[in-house]
Amino acid sequence: MIRIKGREQAIPSSPAVSLLNLLQRNSVSIDTVCGGRAQCGRCLVRVLSGSDKMNRKSQREIVRLQALGAGEEMRLACQSYTRGDIEIEIIHPHPGTEDSSG
Ligand code: FES
Repeated sequence: MIRIKGREQAIPSSPAVSLLNLLQRNSVSIDTVCGGRAQCGRCLVRVLSGSDKMNRKSQREIVRLQALGAGEEMRLACQSYTRGDIEIEIIHPHPGTEDSSG
């Protein structure tokens, strides 16, 4: 399951669907400009637990994360997959649909 900081609802994980798509399918507010092509960096998430259960970062993702100045614990949701239990924090909710997460 995917747990999201500030939300009750957990989302079933899937190794075949990107984190970004899973969040969007479940109406979790997360921003994207490039539509999942590792270009905009708006889908940034902080992995609070379970990073060992996620796919490895691709070169493309690493380059983008470095350009954003993002630390080791950060991932691009559009480039991330998991089959296990993880917990994440969404950095940029979709504008206009702000969650009230503390
Ligand atoms: S959606 Fe643009 S980098 Fe992930």
